[in-house]
Amino acid sequence: MSDRFSLLILPGDGIGPEVMAEVRKVIAWFGKRRGLLFDVDEDLVGGAAYDAHGTPLSDATMARAQSVDAVLLGAVGGPAYDNLDFAVKPERGLLRLRKEMDLYANLRPAQCFDALADFSSLKREVVAGLDILIVRELTSGIYFGEPRGIHSDDNNPDNEGGRVGINTQRYTSGEIRRVARSAFELARKRKNRVCSMEKANVMESGILWREEVQWVHDNEYPDVELSHMYADNGAMQLVRRPSQFDVIVTDNLFGDILSDAAAMLTGSLGMLPSASLGAPMANGRPKALYEPVHGSAPDIAGQGRANPIACILSFAMALRYSFDRGEDADLLERAVEKVLADGVRTADLMAADGGTPVGTSEMGDHIVAALDQLG
Ligand code: IPM
Ligand code: MG
Repeated sequence: MSDRFSLLILPGDGIGPEVMAEVRKVIAWFGKRRGLLFDVDEDLVGGAAYDAHGTPLSDATMARAQSVDAVLLGAVGGPAYDNLDFAVKPERGLLRLRKEMDLYANLRPAQCFDALADFSSLKREVVAGLDILIVRELTSGIYFGEPRGIHSDDNNPDNEGGRVGINTQRYTSGEIRRVARSAFELARKRKNRVCSMEKANVMESGILWREEVQWVHDNEYPDVELSHMYADNGAMQLVRRPSQFDVIVTDNLFGDILSDAAAMLTGSLGMLPSASLGAPMANGRPKALYEPVHGSAPDIAGQGRANPIACILSFAMALRYSFDRGEDADLLERAVEKVLADGVRTADLMAADGGTPVGTSEMGDHIVAALDQLG
């Protein structure tokens, strides 16, 4: 396998371009010091693409995303786009990428760095050492199910306002089985435990989810420990005793919600990376898109205050899952850990009572300096 990879960078909106500039420093470091050469292309997504082309993702950009080894995305959205038609909202660009690249397995690790355990809204002893991985189904369920829409409800005189909004939760057994396999595979490389979450007590799609995950377990992964939990209880357990979990596998909507909750356990949303993986391409690597879990943070955009760590750690996930460079991924994660242990903090990681935060660009420089020391 060659050490030359193609990468499409889509900085997007808000703080996206700022944090991505720091990832570029890290990419350059790995090129110079570790012989990892990237052909880096950059393009528009979200509101930035709408401003330029009237669509949150042009067909040309979509085609480029399909042809590269990996896509790295910053964030999409912002108040300037709140009143756009639903079909051209920035988020539609991201959802189109996920759907057309068929990125069905969204990996959202929530790890608590020791240096940050006191920043969590939970007690240190509850979150210290926390290391869970949420595997969220990303291309189906209520995000994409048909029928959907807002319609007039003319035949129902009792409906004050006269409209009805519809979305459909729909899963096929095949869609459930493939994401379950991703979760079991990942669990085998971790603590070998999977907890599957749904609402089988009220939803038929939840019953199917539970049965199919169990089927994959019994037939293909009997060595992995599997448990099932209703998603509402799962949310409660996540804040009660998160360390009981290793891998959590769940559907698109529950995964969206549970992963935000899990992210906050670790102290800041500014820390959490993600990988969205699809089926293997001809070269054996999975279709892949990497992005921080945080959004475009319009309130601090353009101020140089954003925390670039989530985006940098997303690149670490790319090293691990797209480029087969586990050691380099470890190195980058250790560099981030070192910088945090040295007390370097962006504003989101400051205690109320003091210290001077570093800006986005300084944080990037600290991480590159730590790479120099550790690498
Ligand atoms: C996420 C985000 C997206 C989602 C939005 C931006 C469409 O919240 O990646 O978690 O709902 O999936
Ligand atoms: Mg979300």
